[in-house]
Order: sequence, then structure tokens, then C-alpha cells
Amino acid sequence: MKNDWLQPLIDQMYAKHLPHNAGEVASYIPELGKANPNDFGISLATADGQIFEAGDSTRPFTIQSISKPFTYGMAIELHGHAKVSARVGVEPSGDVFNSIQLEKDSHRPFNPMINAGAITVSALLYEHYGDEALEQLLARFSAAAGHPLSVDEAVYQSEKRTGHRNRAIAHLLLNFGMVEEKVEQALDLYFKQCSILVNTRDLAVMGATLSNLGKNPFTGVDVYDIDRVKDMLSIMFTCGLYDYSGEWAYKVGVPAKSGVSGGVMSVVNRQLGFATYSPRLDARGNSCRGIEVCVDLANELGLHVFDCMNMGSSYLKAML
Ligand code: DON
Repeated sequence: MKNDWLQPLIDQMYAKHLPHNAGEVASYIPELGKANPNDFGISLATADGQIFEAGDSTRPFTIQSISKPFTYGMAIELHGHAKVSARVGVEPSGDVFNSIQLEKDSHRPFNPMINAGAITVSALLYEHYGDEALEQLLARFSAAAGHPLSVDEAVYQSEKRTGHRNRAIAHLLLNFGMVEEKVEQALDLYFKQCSILVNTRDLAVMGATLSNLGKNPFTGVDVYDIDRVKDMLSIMFTCGLYDYSGEWAYKVGVPAKSGVSGGVMSVVNRQLGFATYSPRLDARGNSCRGIEVCVDLANELGLHVFDCMNMGSSYLKAML
């Protein structure tokens, strides 16, 4: 049943937050600095296959760190929990996304949402798939989005050319045996996965796929096993917004992942995927306007996992 109250609410959210212009567009990857700072898109996709959108919801941008939970799910599927957790932890780091810090005794990256952890995960994918890793990764991301996705060559080249810090992290991981020898190939895969083009509609559908026990609600395709979805959502809940994750859990209270190009993807278990795009970032690399919209929408709809209106993931569903 198509509901008639959610679209006006999304329109209202868009209009209310449109004037918000705090933050700076990321420029440490030079190509990202070309983004229009005023772009603003919102998409919400429900677990029963409805879409509600406003603004620049089809404007393409690169997925960046929002790729990280999706590759983490794939790595566990391929290698199992024991091997993956020997290489990357599940603890919030309380540190910046590109921190060079590793866990004290184990030398593992703290979690797969920060760059060190995500590079380790890309190395695990490369270890299994070799040169077919990008193809496999693109196929899985495309199944989650419901149509074929591709890499933005200019952003990929730009990040590859300037990603010295990630290269340093990767070699540190090689030094401690967290990644195997083909470290340049693993890094290349990481740079390419970050450069996959999406829009807020894609991210909302990818989020809705996670909310719908791993099945894309629009195509009916099973994309992730439910146990992997649990792994992915858990790590998004505790680590998805880097050193803002605690405050996010407090204020928004749903699993989410941000990316440095300005996207934020949130998942309300069994209910919906929600995505925003606004490239002006705060000092932690999260979209300023995106966070504001998410806080507002979570309050408005009672989406927080501990909100009294969120009755076992069934409040919104009952109204759709
Ligand atoms: O490795 C990097 O720096 C980027 N490709 C991804 C970082 C990112 O998206 C951080 N998110 N806010």
C-alpha cells in the first residue's frame, strides 16, 4: 500500500535543511574538491519497495567509505569470522578515519570502518579473488543497488596519485602481517571501491537491502546472507561515523555509514534505508547537513532503536 504522508515529510525535511551551509568540501583527494557544495539530495527506500525522494537524489558522487560495510560482509562470507577477526577488530577507535594507529598487542586495525581496517578487508578480497576482485565487488554492490554500478576513473586516479597516507597504512599493515604481500593490488582495489559512483537513490536501496534481511526489496535478489547483514549492521552501529559514532548512536540511534564525498547511508532494521548527499563536511569527515537531516528524521519518525515509538522495528511498518 502506497502511503501518502512520507513524501510530504521528506519534502519538508529538504526545504527545512536546504539553507544549511556549514562545513567544507573535502579536497585532500583533489578530484573531490570539484563537487558543488550546494548539492543536496535525500532518498528513503522502504523494505517493502517504495521510494521517497527530494532534491538532487540522482546526482552521482563516489561512494567512498560507505563501501566499507559492504566489503566487510563479503570478506566474512569468503574467509569466515576467525580469519577476518585475526586481521581486523570490531572496537570503535575513537580516532580519525585515516588514523595510523593499530591495536597495541594484536597490531590489528581497530575496526573495518576506518581506512586501516578497510584496506585490510580489501586485501582479504584480493587474496581470494585476485584480479577478479573488482568485478566481484561491483557485481555485489550493483545487486544491492538494483542496477549496474561503475568506477569514476577521474576520482580513482586522483586518489591513487595522492593516497600517500593510505599507502603508508597499507605498508604498516604489511609489516605486521595483517595484509599479504600483494599490498599494491589491495590498495588499488581499495581506491577503486571508494570511487564507485552512486546517488542517494542507490544508497537508500542498498540500505533497504540490508534492512530487508539482505534481499533487495525492488528486485527480489538475495544479496547478503542474514548473518552477514547482522555483522555489517553491528559494525555500522558502533563504528560507522568514526569518532562521532557515540554521539550518532545517542542522537540518531541507527546503523549508518558516512563517506568523505558527502554521502550518509542509514539503515532502520526491517523498515528502511535512508540516504543523504551534501558534500560540505565537518572536521571528522562527516556531512554536516546530512547529519542534521538524519537527527531530525530520526526524531520525527521515532527511528532510534531505543525510542519509545520504535516498537520492535514495527512502528513505521505498521503505518506504511
Ligand atoms: O581512503 C580515503 O581517504 C577515502 N577513499 C575514503 C575516506 C572516507 O570516505 C572517510 N569518510 N568520511
